[in-house]
Amino acid sequence: MKLDSMLITGGAGFIGVNFARIIQSREISRVVILDALTYAASGSSLESVLCDKVQFVHGDIRDSTLVARLMDEHEVDCIVHFAAESHVDRSITGPDEFISTNVDGTHCLLKAAKQRWLAGSGSPHRFHHVSTDEVYGTLKADDPPFSEVNQYQPNSPYSASKAASDHLVRAYHHTYGLDTTTSNCSNNYGPFQFPEKLIPLMIVNILHGRKLPIYGDGMQIRDWLYVDDHCRAIESCLDRGKPGEVYNVGGDNERPNIEIVRKICDLIDTRVAEDEDLAVAFPDCLASVGESSLGLLEHVSDRPGHDRRYAIDYRKAANELGYAPLESFESGFAKTVAWYLDNEQWWRSVMDGSYKDWLDANYSKR
Ligand code: NAD
Ligand code: TYD
Repeated sequence: MKLDSMLITGGAGFIGVNFARIIQSREISRVVILDALTYAASGSSLESVLCDKVQFVHGDIRDSTLVARLMDEHEVDCIVHFAAESHVDRSITGPDEFISTNVDGTHCLLKAAKQRWLAGSGSPHRFHHVSTDEVYGTLKADDPPFSEVNQYQPNSPYSASKAASDHLVRAYHHTYGLDTTTSNCSNNYGPFQFPEKLIPLMIVNILHGRKLPIYGDGMQIRDWLYVDDHCRAIESCLDRGKPGEVYNVGGDNERPNIEIVRKICDLIDTRVAEDEDLAVAFPDCLASVGESSLGLLEHVSDRPGHDRRYAIDYRKAANELGYAPLESFESGFAKTVAWYLDNEQWWRSVMDGSYKDWLDANYSKR
C-alpha cells in the first residue's frame, strides 16, 4: 500500500525509536512522531531520528484536539500506534494509567482516524496497532505456541488493557470499515530499551555490581524477538497486511529467564576481561576484579499472577507477509550487550531524566 504521511505514536519509546530509524529510509514524504515523553521515553534517542522528513511533537494521544489537528495539518494517511504504558510490574502497582493510556488513548486515535479517513467518500489509509502476545494469557510447557485464533485470556492489568485496545481496533474495522492491521508480538530486546525491563536492567546492574533479581524460580519462558525483526514485520504489515487482519510476530527464540540472565553475565564478563577500559569505567562490575557476575544472581519473590510461558506461532505472518526473524539468540544478544556498553551516556540520561533538558532546549512544549 502506498502511504505518504505517517503518524507514529510513542516514537520516543523503545520500539518506536527503532521503528522510526528503519522507516527513515522508506519512500515516504512525512513522518510525525507524537509522544508524551513519559519516564519510559528516550528523548535523546530522537536525536538520531529527527530530520526534515521526521518531526517530533510533544503531546498526548488522549488529547483529541491535538490528534485531530496533527492529522489534518500533516494530511496523515497512516498511523502506527506504539504509545502505551508497557511495564507489567508497574501495571500491578498502578493500573489506572494503563487503562487510561492504553484503552482510552487508543480509542481517541481510532475516533480521530474514523473522522478524518471515513468522512464522505473516504480516502486510502491504514491504522496499524502494535500489541502483545500477553493478551493470550499463559502457556503450559507442552502447549502449542500462540496463534492468531487463540482465545484472549489476559492475566495482568497491562495485558488486559492491551486486549481491550485490540478489541477496539477490531470493532472499528468491523463496524465502520476502518482499514486496520494489528501485530501481536513477543518480548522485544535491543538498543534503546528503558532499563526496567529484564535485559537492560540486568546489563546495568551487572555493570554496577548490583544484585540481579530473578523472580521465582527463573524458569518462566519468553520468546525473545530482536527489535529490528519486529519493526520489519510492522513494515510488512503496512505493505502487505490485509485490512482487519491480525499477525503474530515471534523470534523463534524461547528461553527461560535464568538462561537469559546467565548469558548476559557471560557476555559482559568476557567483554570486561578483554577490555581494560571497560574495567576502569565500571570498577564495581565483578568482572573488573576478576570475579564472575553470576555471583550477583538472587532469587526474589515471584511477580503476582506471573505468566509461565509465552511462545509465538508466526506462520501466518510468514505466509502472508514473508516474515521471518533474521537475528539469532547469539547475534541478537551480542549486539544488544555491545550497544549498552557503547552507549552508557544514553542509559544514564534516561535513568536520571536529564534528557528532558535537551528536549526543552530544542522543542517547545505544545
Ligand atoms: P515503551 O514503554 O518503551 O515506550 C512507550 C512510549 O509511549 C514512550 O515513549 C512514552 O512516552 C509513550 N507514551 C506513553 N503514554 C503516552 C501517551 N498518553 N501519549 C503519547 N505517548 C505516550 O514501550 P515499548 O516497549 O516501546 O512498546 C511499544 C508498544 O509495543 C506498546 O504498545 C507495547 O504494548 C507493545 N509491545 C511491547 C513489547 C516489548 O517487549 N517491549 C512486546 C509486545 C508489545
Ligand atoms: P519484562 O522484561 O518485565 O517483560 P514481560 O513481563 O512483559 O514479559 O520481564 C521479562 C521476564 O523477566 C518476566 O518473566 C519477568 C522476569 N523478570 C525478572 O525475573 N526479574 C526482573 O527484575 C524483571 C524486570 C523481570
